[in-house]
Amino acid sequence: MSGALQSLRYSRSGGLEVLDQLKVPQSKQYTPIKNAEDAWKAVRSMQVRGAPLIAMVSALGLAVEATERAKDPPAEDAAAWLRQKMSYLRTSRPTAVNLSNAMEVLEEVVNSALQSGSHAAQVYEAYVCAAERMLEEDVAANKAIGEAGADAILAAMQACGRGGSKARVLTICNTGSLATAGWGTALGVIRSLHARGRLERAFACETRPYNQGARLTAFEFVEDGIPGTLICDSMAASLMQRFGVDACVVGADRVAANGDTANKIGTYALAVLCRHHGVPFYVTAPLTTLDAKTRSGSDIPIEERPGDELSCLKLNGESHRLAAPGIEVWNPAFDVTPASLITGIATDKGLVPKRCSVPEDYDIAGFLAQ
Ligand code: MRU
Repeated sequence: MSGALQSLRYSRSGGLEVLDQLKVPQSKQYTPIKNAEDAWKAVRSMQVRGAPLIAMVSALGLAVEATERAKDPPAEDAAAWLRQKMSYLRTSRPTAVNLSNAMEVLEEVVNSALQSGSHAAQVYEAYVCAAERMLEEDVAANKAIGEAGADAILAAMQACGRGGSKARVLTICNTGSLATAGWGTALGVIRSLHARGRLERAFACETRPYNQGARLTAFEFVEDGIPGTLICDSMAASLMQRFGVDACVVGADRVAANGDTANKIGTYALAVLCRHHGVPFYVTAPLTTLDAKTRSGSDIPIEERPGDELSCLKLNGESHRLAAPGIEVWNPAFDVTPASLITGIATDKGLVPKRCSVPEDYDIAGFLAQ
């Protein structure tokens, strides 16, 4: 599949450990996650990041703790304990909806285990099995997204007379094996194009201030032999003007009911550039990133992170001051791309259709109901 490092390692007997992404690529260290609190801290501190991975580490961190727990309290106590841990886990990072979607599904599993008259052991078992299923399903979902996105890009190239050519694709942040259980979403599309022999080159934006592009996506390109070039974020316009790209493909942290999409800061700027240069702009998202309950992008909570992520350069755990001391900093981790700038949303169930009444928007609720 992919030679890149695994974002996590899990087995029921061996427990959970995660690759500390703050140290990649300088070192490849795995950190044990023994309970919900370890998971919360790993997510909050960005040791693990990426919408699908945040959800999986949270779900599995609690699974590890539940597996260790005494199995003899009343079932109601077991369910109450799991619910309380799940509401704590939801608070680590606000923008990626995968986390709250996962917790919602797991809560339903716990509730129905309780209703069917289970003992505490069965309530825990139901939770752990459901968390493990999420992990198993993720790679298959990513492969399906990869195929749908690659098909869409190649069809767009065909339509503009570049049908026989290899694709030049631009991306931002890290959406690969390190953001998921494997293969990736937007990076999964790039992997699928490469596997089909249809990728000329993938360009990765450095992704300031956290440098997920430079540290993580560049690492995955090199590890997997994907022809890749790193650019800094401000070079994207020149790249389109001087070299030309066939498509931009990005991940998502939350897709609102009308298709407005929150993703890594800088994504919106790329979408505006794509519109100006006539470049198709694709969002990739597993179904777990679609949020029919959030009406539009303005309702999506945008995480603001500490200013020192911008004013200091952090490398391998060390921090070096970059900006003048005393300067104020604004550091939103995500931005919202309006649906009208998005050419297509590739999911594990194919492309999301546009809304009939408002063709600029997408019909997320209708798509999920199919
Ligand atoms: O702050 P991060 O690194 O968690 O942000 C990650 C992104 O914005 C990704 O594009 C998104 O989560 C999709 S990952 C498949």
